[in-house]
Amino acid sequence: MINSKTIIITGGAGFIGSHVVRRFVNNYPDYKIINLDNLTYAGNLANLTDIQDAPNYSFQKGDITDAVFIDALFEKEKPYAVIHLAAESHVDRSISNPMEFVMTNVIGTVNLLNAARKSWEGDYINHRFYHVSTDEVYGALGESGMFTEETSYDPHSPYSASKASSDHFVRAYHDTYGLDVVISNCSNNYGSHHFPEKLIPLAINNIKNNKPVPVYGKGENVRDWLWVEDHARAIDVIFHKAKAGDTYNIGGHNEWKNIDLIRLLCEILDQKLGRESGASAKLITFVTDRAGHDLRYAIDSTKLQNELDWVPSLQFEEGLEKTVDWYLQNEEWLENVTSGNYQDYYKNQYNS
Ligand code: NAD
Ligand code: TYD
Repeated sequence: MINSKTIIITGGAGFIGSHVVRRFVNNYPDYKIINLDNLTYAGNLANLTDIQDAPNYSFQKGDITDAVFIDALFEKEKPYAVIHLAAESHVDRSISNPMEFVMTNVIGTVNLLNAARKSWEGDYINHRFYHVSTDEVYGALGESGMFTEETSYDPHSPYSASKASSDHFVRAYHDTYGLDVVISNCSNNYGSHHFPEKLIPLAINNIKNNKPVPVYGKGENVRDWLWVEDHARAIDVIFHKAKAGDTYNIGGHNEWKNIDLIRLLCEILDQKLGRESGASAKLITFVTDRAGHDLRYAIDSTKLQNELDWVPSLQFEEGLEKTVDWYLQNEEWLENVTSGNYQDYYKNQYNS
């Protein structure tokens, strides 16, 4: 018998995963949410303290690259669905260590697909495998145009190549075996609990501590930013309403050149920290460009808006201020993450 309400959410201790777990735990008391996460450097259970004791939530430490473990977990839990976010997610790390990205993003995804296939055989129609992906699989845009669901894949970084590969496997399991799969490709997210190696939290942390803010190249690259809670809401809608085999792009029509975004953050922090106007902007430091740096991403999410009635809820300036406030009010979280203390604590707790 399947547990018709058990959902395994992978990567739930990470940035976006923690927002998805929180949303599902709070909004769907009937679901039993299992957060499957290996607690890499990016996984932090302190992201979920507010819901950790909820009766419909449990945490399972485990590595998706371990096929035996994944098969056993499916055998034990007999989940109705998987929402798969676990991944290595940072482009710069993928440039220095591509194999970790192949292991988790490609092999880990195929392990989950295999477990789902075995566990759900004969009843695919009553299950769902939701794969969370990125707009970076589409490659880079020039000055104009937007990525639609029809745009051909053209990844450039080892990160985006590994995500593209995982997307292809997910679609192949639908086309070949009939597994019920759904994929969404989202633009850059921002918000609370974002690990401070990515641009926005790194810049907030450095500005706060009067440290240089590294801007790659000339800062001319463009990213399309979406508030993380709007992404979690889109995942909720797509998970519940999409047709099997379908794909949706998710984005906020909110393009910013990196340098303009950093200047705006400097202004917000000058004001919030009581600094003289222009003081934080002096921290901006242009550094060597990232290898293979994609010039521009922009998502066309018309399909999601028209078919499933999803629109972003927050203007970027408002969301950015909320985000800055969160980091200023959660110094302990930031301190633990930047010092690495959070890992020692949870490593001791889970014996690894
Ligand atoms: P993140 O790096 O913050 O979190 C990843 C999580 O996966 C961590 O909790 C980590 O411990 C876990 N994990 C890593 N390897 C694992 C393994 N082998 N087994 C089990 N767990 C493992 O990532 P994020 O930014 O929250 O991204 C989540 C997903 O969304 C990823 O699939 C990413 O490609 C996609 N995505 C991210 C963005 C973005 O802007 N951050 C945008 C679009 C799509
Ligand atoms: P990042 O947050 O790493 O996301 P992604 O590479 O997945 O888009 O980077 C966002 C943009 O900011 C990207 O164009 C690279 C740039 N960047 C910097 O200029 N300085 C930095 O220190 C970082 C981390 C990124």
